[in-house]
Amino acid sequence: MARALTRPRLPKENPVSKVKEYIDREMHRFRNELFEFLRIPSVSARGEHATDVRAAASWLASRMRDAGLEASVVETPGHPVVLGEWRGAPPGAPTVLVYGHYDVQPPEPLGEWDSPAFEPTVRDGNLYARGASDDKGQLFLHLKALEAHLRGAGGLPVNVVVVAEGEEEVGSPNLVPFVEAHRQRLACDAVVISDSSMFAPGLPSLLFSLRGLAYFEIHVQGPRSDLHSGTYGGAVVNPGNAMARILASLKEDTGRVAIPGFYDDVVEWDQSTRESIRRLPFDQEGFLQEVGAPGLDGEAGFSLLERLWIRPTCDVNGVLCGYTGEGAKTVLPARAMAKVSFRLVPHQSPARVRELLEEHVARVAPPEVTARVVELHGGRPWKAELTGEFFEAARTALEEAFGTPPVLTGEGGSIPIVVDFQEILQAPVLLMGFAPPGANMHAPNEWIPLENFEMGIRAVAGFYTELGG
Ligand code: BES
Ligand code: MN
Ligand code: MN
Repeated sequence: MARALTRPRLPKENPVSKVKEYIDREMHRFRNELFEFLRIPSVSARGEHATDVRAAASWLASRMRDAGLEASVVETPGHPVVLGEWRGAPPGAPTVLVYGHYDVQPPEPLGEWDSPAFEPTVRDGNLYARGASDDKGQLFLHLKALEAHLRGAGGLPVNVVVVAEGEEEVGSPNLVPFVEAHRQRLACDAVVISDSSMFAPGLPSLLFSLRGLAYFEIHVQGPRSDLHSGTYGGAVVNPGNAMARILASLKEDTGRVAIPGFYDDVVEWDQSTRESIRRLPFDQEGFLQEVGAPGLDGEAGFSLLERLWIRPTCDVNGVLCGYTGEGAKTVLPARAMAKVSFRLVPHQSPARVRELLEEHVARVAPPEVTARVVELHGGRPWKAELTGEFFEAARTALEEAFGTPPVLTGEGGSIPIVVDFQEILQAPVLLMGFAPPGANMHAPNEWIPLENFEMGIRAVAGFYTELGG
């Protein structure tokens, strides 16, 4: 009794401060767990990593259980989906679906990494590893925000279902069937995704668009097998030269894609969006530094950011042909192959682009070779509805965490499942990115500032706090 009198009076238990205290107290462990996650080489594209992908899935399911979610590893014809659920919110509370991917891109070229791709290393407060930004670091920060509420404050104001897929980097071939098969279980009021970047250091972003993607191989076959280029050159059409003609015919000097009909479904963007893009604090000099190229490209009549976000484009991703070893070999190769992708904007569709490309290649390829187009994968472009309680909660939480309100930005990359979520689940999708600009996604020395990981946890935790209140 005497002791109780001398004890200072504690304020009434405050769940918000309990969440924050939990994050402060556990941050060191959160970081170490992220390092563990990044050490698993879950490269979805490579058959030899299939057991690693699976190991990442079961590791993630265990961390979901630690966080207070029910978790299961759900089989698909490819790599599994990890599903986490917490349904303890008060009756009538909304449900949020969190999506992310635990697979990563191959780490090659290995020699260009300053520290090994799967040995997370901190330099100057930045964490380097494959998947640090895309998307393990960003997926994991969501789990930690959920954990802070569930373990720190004993619950969440909304129900939550987490979908972590292991095939995003190979085009999500099994995810649409998965979402359709589980549409009841995945029913939700909003989808939240962190798999994109911040516009500038310290400046959080909410996305208003993503470009779509249509990815192809073009195969050109000439003679039955390689020929002596002296004996046959000049009389037999060279597939390398034929491929060069085909590839050169894809773009005009003005930066426009030259395939007839390609722009038919492209919509002009409203002036207010274009105006808001123009107002963003864009550092063009920094961009040039970031890419390290002698100069820049682009479609006439559009600013650099518009070229990246609201205009479609065409890129050669790789070419395979003839002799590329040491020294000179005089050869007329039998075949050539090129990987070509198009980034799409509303309302272009990968299926239509495929038809147009097939017609175009048939028209421009010399008739003395056979040329064929193979579609690898595609994804539709997406444009957001930036209204509603979830959007407002995200805006407030980001402002509170970063001390500055988020900017609305577009994105040149693609997350194909976004449009499918919106259509199948009939729920708005919110994209808030925590990767730094120039995160080296898909490239050597991928990184995330540890600060972004931590602020991301705080911002997402704040998002749920906002929804509760
Ligand atoms: N997270 C990226 C997409 C992205 C990158 C969004 C940068 C925002 C900023 C995603 O993992 C990705 O790489 N998508 C692929 C498409 C997929 C079908 C392989 C892409 O955009 O090339
Ligand atoms: Mn990603
Ligand atoms: Mn990626």
